[in-house]
Amino acid sequence: MKFSKSATLAFAATAVAAPSATTKEQPSKRQAGCASAVTLDASTNVFKKYTLHANNFYRAEVEEAVNLLSDSSLASAAAKVADVGSFLWLDTIANIAKFEPAVADVPCNEILGLVIYDLPGRDCAAKASNGELKVGELNRYKKDYIDVIAALLKKHNKTAFALIIEPDSLPNLVTNSDVQACKNSASGYRDGVAYALKTLNLPNVVQYIDAGHGGWLGWDANLKPGAEELAKAYKAAGSPKQFRGFATNVAGWNSWDQSPGEFASASDAKYNSCQNEKTYVQTFGARLKTAGMPNHALVDTGRNGVTGLREEWGNWCNVNGAGFGVRPTANTGLELADAFVWIKPGGESDGTSDSSAVRYDSFCGKPDAFQPSPEAGQWNQEYFEMLLRNANPPF
Ligand code: BGC
Repeated sequence: MKFSKSATLAFAATAVAAPSATTKEQPSKRQAGCASAVTLDASTNVFKKYTLHANNFYRAEVEEAVNLLSDSSLASAAAKVADVGSFLWLDTIANIAKFEPAVADVPCNEILGLVIYDLPGRDCAAKASNGELKVGELNRYKKDYIDVIAALLKKHNKTAFALIIEPDSLPNLVTNSDVQACKNSASGYRDGVAYALKTLNLPNVVQYIDAGHGGWLGWDANLKPGAEELAKAYKAAGSPKQFRGFATNVAGWNSWDQSPGEFASASDAKYNSCQNEKTYVQTFGARLKTAGMPNHALVDTGRNGVTGLREEWGNWCNVNGAGFGVRPTANTGLELADAFVWIKPGGESDGTSDSSAVRYDSFCGKPDAFQPSPEAGQWNQEYFEMLLRNANPPF
């Protein structure tokens, strides 16, 4: 997972309520799913009705982290993180195995968030999250990854799902088309994303496609090509009914509404009218509408509790000093923003700082990157503790 280095002008229910009001005689037992099939209306904000589920994979990571804490006040704060809703990343074919256990305890009034993230030649402009599938393995992506997930979503039609489709992929095609690996990946990304949208267009699903962040597609010169690239994928998928819009700040660090923006005094700030995610959602959302695509947004607030830490806007790896941000909520104050959600599971690394590793990316060795850090997706206890200590609002 990485963010573009594009800080340059040119590119830069049937719902049955979950069991509640239990008595001593009837101990609480969480029921999975609803009594009948779920149909989500993607023309509405489903996060108003469903709460993002605190998935048991992240819960287990956090509970293990709590056990390692000797400071009892930090430990009790840490324990609360386990109850925060967050997205589960299906980042390899093997990790589709996380699906069944994750769906087992989702009550009817909650929605399970999944990140679809396994395109061939993944993370083409960086190294930290290079994936298992090579450029050209599109057929495997379709048959062994997307089709398998689609079958599971159908099987679990009494549960609601929110999907985020392929972080960084299309934004990389917009701003990093000069990078050879992105050139090589381009047709597979476009075909793969359209296939994912079309195949995962199921009644119990709402879909959001990744749109980078304000410091990426938010540059004036990137807004139009960015909106057109995303809209093209939506249309190539046959304008799926369950498609709702876009996701911003995925695994990112940008503030929602800091004003002036964190990088507003940078020399190139005049070329970017989206200095925080709120203006990005509004500005890019308008462009998406013009391009003919649904334009409601999810915003990752998992790690944006502290700002002023990055030397440059494009620095994306394990930012040192970061803190957990606002907890998931559908009260964003902006109609276009459906919800603040935690997408990147705070505590999981963005990339290794070991310069001898194959997936070492120099961004993870920058002075503002936390070191040492393990491989992307691996747990980093020290980083988790830092996010917790710096959480804003605090736990
Ligand atoms: C990694 C994935 C991981 C995800 C969430 C990405 O940067 O490449 O393997 O699942 O972050 O931590």
